[in-house]
Amino acid sequence: MFTPTIEWVNGRIRLIDQTLLPNEFKKIYCDEVSEIWQAIKTLKVRGAPAIGIAAAFGTVLGIWHSTADNYVDFETELKDITDYLSTSRPTAVNLFWALKRMVKVAQENKSLTVPELKERLLAESLDIMSEDQQMSRSIGKYGAGLIENGDNILTHCNAGGLATSDYGTALAVMFSAHEMGKQIHVYADETRPLLQGARLTTWELMRAGIDVTLICDSVAGQVMKEGYIQRVVVGADRIAANGDTANKIGTYMVAVMAQQHGVPFYVAAPTSTVDMSLKNGDQIPIEERGAEEVTEGFGQRTAPEGVKVYSPAFDVTPAHLITSIITEKGVINPPFNVNLKRAFL
Ligand code: MRU
Repeated sequence: MFTPTIEWVNGRIRLIDQTLLPNEFKKIYCDEVSEIWQAIKTLKVRGAPAIGIAAAFGTVLGIWHSTADNYVDFETELKDITDYLSTSRPTAVNLFWALKRMVKVAQENKSLTVPELKERLLAESLDIMSEDQQMSRSIGKYGAGLIENGDNILTHCNAGGLATSDYGTALAVMFSAHEMGKQIHVYADETRPLLQGARLTTWELMRAGIDVTLICDSVAGQVMKEGYIQRVVVGADRIAANGDTANKIGTYMVAVMAQQHGVPFYVAAPTSTVDMSLKNGDQIPIEERGAEEVTEGFGQRTAPEGVKVYSPAFDVTPAHLITSIITEKGVINPPFNVNLKRAFL
């Protein structure tokens, strides 16, 4: 049931084209590093951990046909490829985390021959993927401990199997609670403009047999006011050292609403999403998307030609609105500036 989002198959990257879901389930191949760059940019593959895995495989794809015959030339090519891939999307730190890890492993193995180095990098990318599978399951297990039988959980965007190797972060909590036999019901925000909640989250939850209701983003406050929601669980694209968390645009509004209504607000993310180099969320780069995603998002114009559009893809939820951060190492509680640091020791 948990289909791999991205795979390495005989020297090619195979991934689920998420832009086609839920109407079509199709796997596509990438044979060139420019194709995986494009797939990340256009959200064929998306979600912070999945972007990291795609970047690692993309690095292998780029270096696979290198004709370098010495380490120095090989590293120059490798850095060109990772620099290029790092321009695909700016917010999810997993992208940069994975690319840095690939360069580091090459540097640590510079005594190997070039063919051996290529195999070593492939092994590293496969490790990144299998570690992600483990992390997702641990997040699910720790997070499910916070869920009570009968809970209604609200989520925003898609932090499911599609956003990771196969099991998710925020949705891992729900999959895991469901597997433990807890009765849960999920409210999924549709997540304008690209509708990851409507297209992907509902699709994943329905496939898993979890009861889900789709709501427009603007309904999130109302369902809390009506007392329907016991918990909010969302994913993250980058968490600063003080716990400020960047996630899909609209998450901040949900967090404010959750505080207003006394609903616990949980962020579920692997520690690879934590960027200890940033003191706070003001330093997180926020991607801006094209106007057409807003004005033609439904395959037809929904706004007048020439209208000005502002479309940040992410927002930052301040740490004081977050109840806990659920990681593969356990549930981290405030004060995050102290407890996140501890988790990295
Ligand atoms: O623009 P997207 O679809 O890549 O944004 C994805 C999100 O905001 C997710 O919530 C986040 O990456 C967590 S994925 C486990």
